[in-house]
Amino acid sequence: MSEIDALLTENRRFPSPPAFQRVATVSDAAVATAAAADPDAYWVTMARQLEWITPFTKGLEWTAPFATWFRDGQLNVSTNCLDRHIRTARRNKAAIIFEGEPGDTRTLTYWQLYIEVCKFANVLRSLGVRKGDRVAIYLPMIPEAAVAMLACARIGAIHNVVFGGFSPESLRDRINDSQCRVLITADGGFRRGQVVPLKRNADAAMTDTPSIEHCVVVQRRAGAMSEETHAQMQDGRDAWWHRLMQKAPLQCEPAVMDAEDPLFILYTSGTTGKPKGIVHSTGGYLTGVTTTSRQVFDLKDDDVFWCTADVGWVTGHSYVVYGPLANGATCMLYEGAPDWPDKNRMWDMCERHGVTIFYTAPTAIRAFMKWGEKHPNQHDLSRLRLLGTVGEPINPEAWMWYHRVIGKERCPIVDTWWQTETGAIVISPLPGLTETKPGSATHPLPGYSVALVDTHAQPIPVGGGLLTITRPWPSMLRTIWGDPQRYVDTYFSKWPGRPDLYFAGDGAKLDDDGYWWILGRVDDVLNVAGHRIGTMEVESALVGHPSVAEAAVVGKDHELKGQAIAAFVTLREGFTATSALRDELREFVGEKIGAIAKPDDILFSADLPKTRSGKIMRRLLRDIAEGRALGDTTTLADPSVVAGLKEQYEAQES
Ligand code: WT7
Repeated sequence: MSEIDALLTENRRFPSPPAFQRVATVSDAAVATAAAADPDAYWVTMARQLEWITPFTKGLEWTAPFATWFRDGQLNVSTNCLDRHIRTARRNKAAIIFEGEPGDTRTLTYWQLYIEVCKFANVLRSLGVRKGDRVAIYLPMIPEAAVAMLACARIGAIHNVVFGGFSPESLRDRINDSQCRVLITADGGFRRGQVVPLKRNADAAMTDTPSIEHCVVVQRRAGAMSEETHAQMQDGRDAWWHRLMQKAPLQCEPAVMDAEDPLFILYTSGTTGKPKGIVHSTGGYLTGVTTTSRQVFDLKDDDVFWCTADVGWVTGHSYVVYGPLANGATCMLYEGAPDWPDKNRMWDMCERHGVTIFYTAPTAIRAFMKWGEKHPNQHDLSRLRLLGTVGEPINPEAWMWYHRVIGKERCPIVDTWWQTETGAIVISPLPGLTETKPGSATHPLPGYSVALVDTHAQPIPVGGGLLTITRPWPSMLRTIWGDPQRYVDTYFSKWPGRPDLYFAGDGAKLDDDGYWWILGRVDDVLNVAGHRIGTMEVESALVGHPSVAEAAVVGKDHELKGQAIAAFVTLREGFTATSALRDELREFVGEKIGAIAKPDDILFSADLPKTRSGKIMRRLLRDIAEGRALGDTTTLADPSVVAGLKEQYEAQES
């Protein structure tokens, strides 16, 4: 039985626990019915719950494939996340509970966060940052990351957060593509007891980023950085965050932003070698993340919400910063690795901080499973009331383990499907309403129109097909920074004559009960431990090495990571295939992109399997990497190439 068939015969059901249902924000299916009857009116109602400076009179305006929402309305995201709460009893409530990897902790109340944001917004203004300017943020998971993002939002600057695990070259490309004027970084961050030398990486990037005028450097821990990692400050360009903050005024008038003004750009991998700058809006994005945070995570005033994602990914933007703060919730922020100093770390933190809602990735759950129940079982997890997952399909065994060992069979699980492009959760159970099935993301949330279609865009009521979104939604991406044509081509050109149909890039199945089962990407995008990586990106990194003539990269199933990277490489004349060269190439990819993109396997080969027209047949390479019998090889120019490769791969594996 194939994995997919196994998934679809999954017949365990988990109704929403009555104790949860009694207090849940959404426990009445009428919301969904009303939203389905008139999605535009539904989103207008949701958007009205935000604080607007100028109320909007328009809802959706749609000239496919470009949408606007609430176009004539004006608002500021930071006032919605902060000022709204400091006028109420929430003023002294914890907004952020931070724990650094070394064990240092800091709690910022809404008032304190508001003051920090206003001060830093003034710092940015004093550095010449104006509305619409781009600001790059390359920080560890520390409160300053949220402060910097919200400070940009306060003055209308567009932030571009770059994950701290990305290499100097990746940082450089993202800065240059969006022409950032300021870079905010730290001297270092802690990861598995080591210092990640962020400023040193930033310096390497800044040798070739002509748009950068200033670099602000957070001192992560005074005295903790070694000689080697200690930041070298360049006069006139670099300044310490804490120095700049000393003189900053406490009041900062928020910029009046149009609903459609960009809030941020976030780069994500696509099917070409060049990451795409996904552009998100102000009003629509905030409407989407605020609504879904409240409905899916059921946020209450006494909750402690821990979304374990890094702010460098969209999950960190939408469910560490904007969604929870707009709802006045308390969020955890953790800097380091889940197994440092030992494998109790996450559960120890849940217990010590009284976490009530825990949202993480299946790859992490599979690692927890492997480490064993003894770790969570040593801790009191009785405050947990809701669990969530995101980033990749969750296998039913991992779901059941999460349910039993972490949730003690008491907590609902929300398996949330969405993407950088959707900005907010699209398919997910409503924890006070939906009966769940392990491995299924269940149903689209109220207000979304999702359809499964075949290659001719015909709807499929039951069975397998491609996931599409058939109506615009407020938090949808607005374009790709500097490349609107790529936006049209990537998302709205799959079916000629249907510029209204959003192609998500995922395959999915609908079962007899109308439950959605997400099967994964159908394009050349990999999902390695919940991180999105383009095969072409890794290929272009590899061919940048002097020894490499040609490279083909595919994903292969991996027990923990979901997918791992396998690379097939042909060498240039004069280079010999050695294990030293293999190691060098892995490191080289790490330096070019970041450690997350290092291939697990590299196979040297004299030739790659190609069609007669010269197209590399990745399908066959995936068969090889996953140890399957080779599929149809009749279209190959030279079928002997692939048989030889398979033999060689298997020899290397053993
Ligand atoms: C891709 C988007 C959205 C935040 C994290 C990833 C996969 C995401 C699920 C899920 C199955 C999922 C899809 C999607 N994905 N959530 N619950 N079940 N697959 O954001 O980096 O933009 O990646 O992640 O393949 O297209 P991203």
